[in-house]
Amino acid sequence: MKIFITGGTTGIGWSLAKEYLEDDHIVGICGRDLSRIETGALEKFKNLKTYKVDVTNREELIAAVDEFSEGSLDLMIASAGRSVGSKTKEPDFVASRDVININVLGVLNTFEAALKNMLPNKKGHLAAVASVAGMVGLPGASSYSASKAAVLKLCESYSMDLKSFNIDVTCIAPGFVDTPLTQKNDHGMPWLMSSEKAAKKIRKALDRKKVLFVFPWQMKTVMFILERLPRWMYRAFMQMPIANYSK
Ligand SMILES: NC(=O)c1ccc[n+]([C@@H]2O[C@H](COP(=O)([O-])OP(=O)(O)OC[C@H]3O[C@@H](n4cnc5c(N)ncnc54)[C@H](OP(=O)(O)O)[C@@H]3O)[C@@H](O)[C@H]2O)c1
Repeated sequence: MKIFITGGTTGIGWSLAKEYLEDDHIVGICGRDLSRIETGALEKFKNLKTYKVDVTNREELIAAVDEFSEGSLDLMIASAGRSVGSKTKEPDFVASRDVININVLGVLNTFEAALKNMLPNKKGHLAAVASVAGMVGLPGASSYSASKAAVLKLCESYSMDLKSFNIDVTCIAPGFVDTPLTQKNDHGMPWLMSSEKAAKKIRKALDRKKVLFVFPWQMKTVMFILERLPRWMYRAFMQMPIANYSK
């Protein structure tokens, strides 16, 4: 398979890239800083192609995906993303704008670039890494929650719209995964999972063409309940000390 992964230089994206490279698939990854790629990876994986691209730059991303695909792309995984870091009550509008730009417009640009190479062949698979944070409005993480909610809904709509073009769509909503993104968190992270383990689970869900994959199951259960609570009850619960996962 020919697979392109945005945000493939570190974390979940890189672990997914390795999953596929070890099985001899052809993988293209992009990020803004290629020096973050694991040392020796380019020598080890001959099927790995790297692109220095910012997903918010639509033209550059389309050019990179076109160059990699040469008119044929099997799977696109939009993993590039950022969080604000520490939870804040006072909104940081500069960071918030960047979060929405990368996490939402970046995914839109990624899907546009992929579909350009999938629609003419009437086959392909789009995937995006959203988050359980998009299932509710999390206190202290407003723009991140909003950005991931947008990705969840974008994928839900696309999963129906693109069916007639034989394009599958998968939205992945992980709980906490141990990556550079979460290593800077100053709050507790229940059910934290290694990015290697997360990548194996995600790959299985992609193989099964799942429309929505929420994991781990413990976090999925909690989020399922929080999502369905009357909103006044949710807000009251989230303001109780038990919901404040401080270290
Ligand atoms: N870790 C978790 O617990 C967790 C949970 C739920 C969802 N997620 C989501 O999973 C995805 C991957 O996160 P991660 O945990 O693996 O974090 P990470 O290790 O920080 O990886 C983020 C990746 O995105 C790339 N990136 C960031 N901004 C970019 C941009 N503007 N253009 C191109 N690439 C960009 C980074 O590369 P460069 O720095 O080289 O640009 C890096 O490769 C994100 O969408 C995140 O929101 C993570």
